[in-house]
Amino acid sequence: MREVGVSLFGFGNVGRAVARVLIEKEKLFRERYGVSLKVVSVADTTGVVWLPEGIDLREALLIKETFGKLSSWTNDYEVYNFTPEEAVKEVDADIVIDVTNDKNAHEWHLTALREGKAVVTSNKPPLAFHYAELMSEAEKRNVPYLFEATVMAGTPVIGLLRENLLGDTVERIEAVLNATTTFILSRMEMGLDFEEALKKAQSLGIAERDPSEDILGIDAGYKATILHCVAFEPKTFDEARVKGIAEVTAGGVGRARKKGRTIRLVATVERGSITVEPREIPVDSPLAVESHENAAVIWTDLLGELVIKGAGAGLKETASGVVSDIVKAALRTA
Ligand code: HSE
Repeated sequence: MREVGVSLFGFGNVGRAVARVLIEKEKLFRERYGVSLKVVSVADTTGVVWLPEGIDLREALLIKETFGKLSSWTNDYEVYNFTPEEAVKEVDADIVIDVTNDKNAHEWHLTALREGKAVVTSNKPPLAFHYAELMSEAEKRNVPYLFEATVMAGTPVIGLLRENLLGDTVERIEAVLNATTTFILSRMEMGLDFEEALKKAQSLGIAERDPSEDILGIDAGYKATILHCVAFEPKTFDEARVKGIAEVTAGGVGRARKKGRTIRLVATVERGSITVEPREIPVDSPLAVESHENAAVIWTDLLGELVIKGAGAGLKETASGVVSDIVKAALRTA
C-alpha cells in the first residue's frame, strides 16, 4: 500500500466536499489503486491544523461546521498561524491541494513545485495569469500540476485536451463555461427577473463568492483562457476579450426565444484569440445547456467535431475533478 501525504488548503464548501469524498472513498482508493491518502494538514483562513500522523477529517468537518473556523480546534491538534507559503514549506506532504480563492496562490504553487510537491487545484486565477511559469516549473521538476476542476468542474475537458487527442490539432473550441449565467438566463426565459435568478444561483452554491465575476464574464474568461493555454499555447486573461450578461434584458431573451433561439454566454477559443460574449444560439445546439451544465464543442483536424457536456459547477461535481487529480498525482508519487 502506497501512503501519500496530502496538504489541503481551503476548507470552505469545495474543501469540505473534497474531504467528504476522501472519507467516503478511502476503501475504494486502497482497493482500486493501492493508495492510502493521509491528510497531514488542513487550512482555512483562520489557521493551519497540522498533524504528521494524519488528521481525522470527520472531526475537522465537525469543528468547521460547528464553530465556522478551524482555529477553534485546540483540543488534540496544534493550530498554526502559517501563511500558505510557510505551510507549503513546513508541512511534509506529497500533494498540495488548493481549493481556495486566493488570487495570488501561484506564488505558493511555485514554492510547492520547487519543493517537489505535486499541486492539484480548482483555483482559476493562478492558471489564467501564470500558466507558462507554473507549467515550466512543473516540467522542470517532473512534478504533476493538475487543474481539472478549474474548467467544467469534474467534467473532464482538461484531461481530454491534455491526455487525449495527442495526435490531433485543435482548430477551435466553442463552449458555455459558466453555470451561474446559464442559470440566470434560463430563469429569465421562464419569466423570473435577473436579481431573483441570481439569488437562486447563490443559494445553490454555484455562483462565485463575488457573483460579479460570473455576471461580467470574468469566471468564463478565466476558464476560456485556461482552455487556450491547454489547447494552443500560453496566454493570460488580460488578452481575452470578455463581455458578460449584464446588458442582456428580459426583452432580448424573449425575442430570441420567439425565433427558436436562446441566449447563452459563449466562449470562443482559437489560436491567439479568446472571446466571451452573450450569443443567440439555436435551441437544439449542443451549447443550449440548462441549469448547472457546461458544454464544449471542440473541432480538431482528425476527429472533426467533438462535444463534451456535463456538470460545470456544484460541490460534489467540483470535488469529482479535484479528487480525480489527487488520485492521478498519488499514482505518480514514488
Ligand atoms: N461560479 C462558477 C459557475 C462555478 O457559475 O460556473 C464553477 O467554476
